[in-house]
Amino acid sequence: MNNFTFYAPTMFAFGQGEASRVGALVRQFGGSKVLLVAGGGSVKKNGAYDAVAASLKEAGFPWCELWGVQANPRSGKVYEGIDLARTEGVDFLLAIGGGSVIDTAKAIGMGIPYDGDFWDLFTGTAKIERTLPVGTVLTISAAGSEGSDSCVITQEDGNLKWGCPKTDLIRPKFSVLDPTYTYSLPDYQLACGAVDMLAHLCERYFTNTPDVALTDRLCEAVMKTIVDAAPKALADHSDYASHADLMWAGMLAHNNSCGIGRDQDWASHQIEHELSAFYDCAHGAGLAVVMPAWMEYVCGHDVMRFARFAVNVFGCEMDFAHPERTAQAGIRRLRDFFRTLGMPATLEEVGGRAEDIPAMVAHRCEKPNGFPFGGFVKIQVVDMEAILRRC
Ligand code: NZQ
Ligand code: ZN
Repeated sequence: MNNFTFYAPTMFAFGQGEASRVGALVRQFGGSKVLLVAGGGSVKKNGAYDAVAASLKEAGFPWCELWGVQANPRSGKVYEGIDLARTEGVDFLLAIGGGSVIDTAKAIGMGIPYDGDFWDLFTGTAKIERTLPVGTVLTISAAGSEGSDSCVITQEDGNLKWGCPKTDLIRPKFSVLDPTYTYSLPDYQLACGAVDMLAHLCERYFTNTPDVALTDRLCEAVMKTIVDAAPKALADHSDYASHADLMWAGMLAHNNSCGIGRDQDWASHQIEHELSAFYDCAHGAGLAVVMPAWMEYVCGHDVMRFARFAVNVFGCEMDFAHPERTAQAGIRRLRDFFRTLGMPATLEEVGGRAEDIPAMVAHRCEKPNGFPFGGFVKIQVVDMEAILRRC
């Protein structure tokens, strides 16, 4: 196990009805005027907005609102939010929604105290030193941004989907996780969320670091829980137990409890970000296409780890004479699982075209630290092209 520092100070209020505590939580974390950040309006239908508004009103907090954050959130909304927050004298950001809304709030939070263009903080031209506090009320189990130290925005100028340098400064101060808000999710979004969570665990699970038995088992337990819970949640959109498991699994998958002390991979995410940038597909849908293709491509690097994944997550039988067969069976099971969730399996199914592959690779080259990437297997230009051709 590698040395590590783990500081994840987000407070979680989990369970039905917990949004009534939002006003008190804002007060606890020093807010006095709130900018509420939201997406296209789903939070008005599932009760999250009403609960938050009632709680802020009861606590006596003034607030203003920024609506219209799109999935795969864009820089334009961040600039708009920074201007609005400065004009209104806001000192606390409250995101109601999913990863896109939360990441927009995080980016606004880092942009407000910075004099230049907030994008400098993403490219590393400037260092993230101060941020405004962010609270979240989560409505989709997926990205894990409610507990994470990361934030992903697409810079419209250049169509660059990029994560800022990871920093504990942007972890939310609090997150309200009420599983009943996820009942209103369309099947497709629920499934995309399950894929993203599994991917967050795979990105950590496939490592070259030896002696990481505890985090190996934590990853397997959370992955197995997602594999069990997602079909139940899809079958019954008001089943509290499965929605609750998914909601906490999404947080555990990405606040790094399962990834500390081990080198991590993240190649599938890097490749998926090109799919999202080119075709504006849902992040989880892109991962459903990329992740199995990446696995097939790199499986030979550590067949025993893939075989272990097959046995411990998907219950495949171990073939000791031919572990590569077990490894391949596990990858097939993952593909089948994504299929049963109704996820796309090919580049074409997310609106992609094989002709675009060289352009996607070239686009990746333009990013800071473009190549190589990936902690398990170093992905060079030829590898990214080969993985995309398998998609
Ligand atoms: O616009 P609204 O009305 O909010 O609708 C959203 C959106 O259309 C809808 N939705 C959310 N909750 C709902 C609901 N619809 C009905 N009922 C509900 N309860 O779902 C759609 C997708 O929302 P989005 O916020 O985009 O989903 P997700 O949480 O999957 O976030 C994806 C974004 O997060 C980034 C991804 O790249 C992507 O941009 N990620 C952020 C990470 C982080 N900050 O730690 C890590 C991840 O790896 C990921 O990259
Ligand atoms: Zn992700």
